[in-house]
Amino acid sequence: MQADLLITNIGQLLPMNKQGPVKGKEMNELEVIEGAAVSIKQGKIDWIGSVGEASVIEADQTIDAKGKLVTPGLVEAHTHLVFGGSREKEMALKQRGVPYLEILKQGGGILATVHATREASYEKLLQKALFHLDRMAMHGITTVEAKSGYGLDAETELKQLKVVKAAMEKHPLDIVSTFLGAHAIPPEYKDDPESFLTVMSDLFPQIKAENLAEFVDIFTETGVFTVDQSRRYLLKAKEYGFDVKIHADEIDPLGGTQLAAEVGAISGDHLAVATDEGIKQLAASETIGVILPGTSFYLGKDTYAPARKMIDQGAAVALSTDFNPGSSVTENLQLIMSIAALKLKLSPEEIWHAVTVNAASAIGRGEEAGSIVEGRKADVVIWDAPNYLYFPYHYGVNHAKTVIKNGAVL
Ligand code: NIG
Ligand code: FE
Repeated sequence: MQADLLITNIGQLLPMNKQGPVKGKEMNELEVIEGAAVSIKQGKIDWIGSVGEASVIEADQTIDAKGKLVTPGLVEAHTHLVFGGSREKEMALKQRGVPYLEILKQGGGILATVHATREASYEKLLQKALFHLDRMAMHGITTVEAKSGYGLDAETELKQLKVVKAAMEKHPLDIVSTFLGAHAIPPEYKDDPESFLTVMSDLFPQIKAENLAEFVDIFTETGVFTVDQSRRYLLKAKEYGFDVKIHADEIDPLGGTQLAAEVGAISGDHLAVATDEGIKQLAASETIGVILPGTSFYLGKDTYAPARKMIDQGAAVALSTDFNPGSSVTENLQLIMSIAALKLKLSPEEIWHAVTVNAASAIGRGEEAGSIVEGRKADVVIWDAPNYLYFPYHYGVNHAKTVIKNGAVL
């Protein structure tokens, strides 16, 4: 048998081959193959078997995994990848106890990044996005969702979406684009959020026609958009053929979790303060809860999303970084896995489902990313870790040893 690449001597292989999204208790059932080998041909997984069987394979390149852990490339389902500037100066304000929404109200926070993103050239934004993508790849991520939302005017939102499209061409990682024009109310529309939402929804036809985004997202929050405004906006997006997402119940429990279930959103994201009613409706729906505990951690909050309850009640949960310049400044999804264990009380088995198959399902890539299955894209990571339990355990460092994207070693 011929192969382009053979990975042999795998201590533990996690194929993550259940049909996603994996819900509730099933998230705790993890298949682990000991002593495995995987061969790759033309960018795809060609064969999965035992180390003994692998001896008949003639491969152009062989990697000895030395008894370590091998998993699918991680899937990052929620990032604000494209932005200008940075906000390190806000950290001191936050330490003095100024709340996140108060900083936003005073024209800082998201609006500070909006200013910097409007000023930044297309080329500069692209270089910066590529830099962050490199760093994600280095940490074992092979598929990434990327949102706009720091333009808040037609021109800059389109500039951000075009940067994402260019990054898809230039970078080996797979990128999935989301239009988050409804991320905050810009100063020009301070007293007229309705008209602002119309300006953003007027972009739907162009975004669709030019294939600039697959998803439409909105920040449903106190001082940003109400549940009612969000419902109307998202239903309009659906009329144009977009699947929708919501930044829901991040800071105040407005009922965004229920709205996500009601409108059939592919995901409801954050859900840090989701109520029991929200959890119930989420569990009964097809919507995936994308939990972003790095945000609670980074904003210094004691409240973490009730992800334990969500899974116990049967919901599908994914985990992501929320990489952005204000509320979660990290490209390291492995760190989020540790926070999920420590603060959300998720098991390692649940966590692995949450960063692979469920994250892939949350961005419409359930059939191609987040699993090691014959015939699928060969997105594979060899970790410098002896087993899958090692992850939440040894925290804050990068365990990725070899990252393989579409069959090529990065
Ligand atoms: O997901 N919640 C709104 N948006 C981002 C934060 C963006 C920012 O602070 O720049 C989030 O947390
Ligand atoms: Fe976010």
